[in-house]
Amino acid sequence: MSEPRQILVTSALPYANGSIHLGHMLEYIQTDMWVRFQKMRGNQCIYVCADDAHGSAIMLRAEKEGITPEQLIANVQAEHSGDFADFLVDFDNFHSTHSEENRELSALIYSRLKEAGHIATRSVTQYFDPEKGMFLADRFIKGTCPKCAAQDQYGDNCEKCGATYAPTELKDPKSAISGATPELRDSQHFFFKLPDFQAMLEQWTRSGTLQEAVANKLAEWLDAGLQEWDISRDAPYFGFEIPGEPGKYFYVWLDAPIGYMASFKNLCARRPELDFDAFWNAGSTAELYHFIGKDIVNFHALFWPAMLEGAGLRKPTAVNVHGYLTVNGAKMSKSRGTFIKARTYLDHLAPEYLRYYYAAKLGRGVDDLDLNLEDFVQKVNSDLVGKVVNIASRCAGFIHKGNAGVLVSGDAAPELTEAFRNAAPQITEAYENRDFAKAMREIMALADRANAWIADKAPWSLAKQEGKQDEVQAICAQGINLFRQLVIFLKPVLPLLAADAEAFLNVAPLRWEDAATRLENHTLNAFKPLMSRIEPAKVEAMIAASKEDLAAAQSPVPAGNGELSKEPLAAQIEFDTFAAVDLRVALIVKAEAVEGADKLLRLTLDIGDEQRNVFSGIKSAYPDPAQLEGRLTMMVANLKPRKMRFGVSEGMVMAAGPGGEEIYLLSPDSGAKPGQRIK
Ligand code: MSP
Ligand code: ZN
Repeated sequence: MSEPRQILVTSALPYANGSIHLGHMLEYIQTDMWVRFQKMRGNQCIYVCADDAHGSAIMLRAEKEGITPEQLIANVQAEHSGDFADFLVDFDNFHSTHSEENRELSALIYSRLKEAGHIATRSVTQYFDPEKGMFLADRFIKGTCPKCAAQDQYGDNCEKCGATYAPTELKDPKSAISGATPELRDSQHFFFKLPDFQAMLEQWTRSGTLQEAVANKLAEWLDAGLQEWDISRDAPYFGFEIPGEPGKYFYVWLDAPIGYMASFKNLCARRPELDFDAFWNAGSTAELYHFIGKDIVNFHALFWPAMLEGAGLRKPTAVNVHGYLTVNGAKMSKSRGTFIKARTYLDHLAPEYLRYYYAAKLGRGVDDLDLNLEDFVQKVNSDLVGKVVNIASRCAGFIHKGNAGVLVSGDAAPELTEAFRNAAPQITEAYENRDFAKAMREIMALADRANAWIADKAPWSLAKQEGKQDEVQAICAQGINLFRQLVIFLKPVLPLLAADAEAFLNVAPLRWEDAATRLENHTLNAFKPLMSRIEPAKVEAMIAASKEDLAAAQSPVPAGNGELSKEPLAAQIEFDTFAAVDLRVALIVKAEAVEGADKLLRLTLDIGDEQRNVFSGIKSAYPDPAQLEGRLTMMVANLKPRKMRFGVSEGMVMAAGPGGEEIYLLSPDSGAKPGQRIK
């Protein structure tokens, strides 16, 4: 046996201003499977992550919700941690970039870069929102496209004609936050002198640290010459103040990757056997791997290694890049119900189905990966239930009935035993290279052989014949041994299935090297079904619920920053457009919570001649829905009915407010009658 390796592994730090969806999960599941494989191999492998908690988006979202950024990030961290745990993503630590460790490490790295002459300062002219009192990032400026005159375009590119431009070129610019006309102002900014690292990066990106496609992409940037990188933002900003520079903050992407180190440092405080410096000092023999999506390559393969080098620290061993998730062949779409949150999936389906499907499709490349929901059901049912679990369920009964649960000794199929052993090195190599798809293909080919052999021996017919009991036991003991091998090979992907199988097999947690041994004269525990088939109806319910998430998120919660009076007015409409909306006074006859939906109330509304069933995302403001009964409100009565998971919604009630507890259902003055038209 070679020395155990020391391996530190990270996944990108998810932003703390939104929920985890199945696109994110591709990355965390991919990383987790690799880490579990390394741990099973006996390596010291540490997997850290954190929430990425800084930046103006988080500051503005907290403001919109009427809470502090600290509260927002604590809420989101709890949600994220729950999602990851339930998908069996087993971090050694899940920390936050808004932490003391990160503040100290960011200050340290910055001061080393500064001392070494890698920081420059100069004045930058930018749009400033005079009402809000803040500089505006490009995406917070809207205006008319200078090329095609399309209105309401963002500050750096036009969605209509595709033009890119500087925000100062936009006509009639407005702050997307307050609606005010922005002014140009100067401010001092701090820059990281990335060009100092041109030669190092040309060499590093070509030294086996990156997939070839990624290295080629970076070569384009490197050939064009690197630019200095603006690493400061002016107050108000949610982040770390730059030491010695009051009112100046580190840009979120400066301290985000340092968050990897901070999470590890936080873990070291609890795990004395881990030596922080041994992992991070220049010349470290520990391995360091970052798993990321293709959209954030420049931060991880240019800025980050340059920062580490400039601060006298080690650089990553490799940055492993994956493609984007599509669902049913297209970008995840809210209206199609394919923008699926991690939690919505978990409400309907078991985590290991998705883990297996991702494994079966994840190769080493950076291609996008499609979650085709029909294929998903078919593949999981046929491979996991039909091939793997089937072996155990076919054999276990005969062993319990015919031999008191004891596996007999002897190898009934030496050629199969050998085939399984011979496959181990390839499967090991495929996992090591992150070619999970190849590993799954090899494992399923073995499962096919095992099933074919058992079908050929047909212990179920032998069991009915006189004097064949020994043969039946020999076949079934072999079947269980082959099943055990498959479970070992699948354990990084299916840790719950493996734990249940270990309980049934009556063995200690399986390690990779156990694939070389077999169970003989060994007593099994009772067999319980290990995995059930995916019912397509569950997938449909998940899609329906994803559409409902959207309806709940959209209904009464306006865009903007929560200060309603300052929300920019929508474009003018013709009178006919207004007249087309049939608004009615409605009496709330019944109001009740919807089981299984966090945000929805089911309202029964009386509009004179008829009753309507309406689902509305206002539950957070009306935890005791009965209090709404008997009250008048207003509804859009000619909205096309929408099919939702819990039934059809036949209209929409009207409410104002930023969301959460602050949702205010509108009511007419007393005297109005149900069914009256509002004009
Ligand atoms: N906060 C930054 C990362 C900082 S790392 C120092 C960020 N966060 S993110 O929440 O937007 O994305 C987290 C990871 O999920 C990224 O690696 C990103 O590429 C990945 N994905 C986000 N959407 C995805 C898909 N639809 N498909 C696959 N991966 C996706 O970026
Ligand atoms: Zn345009």
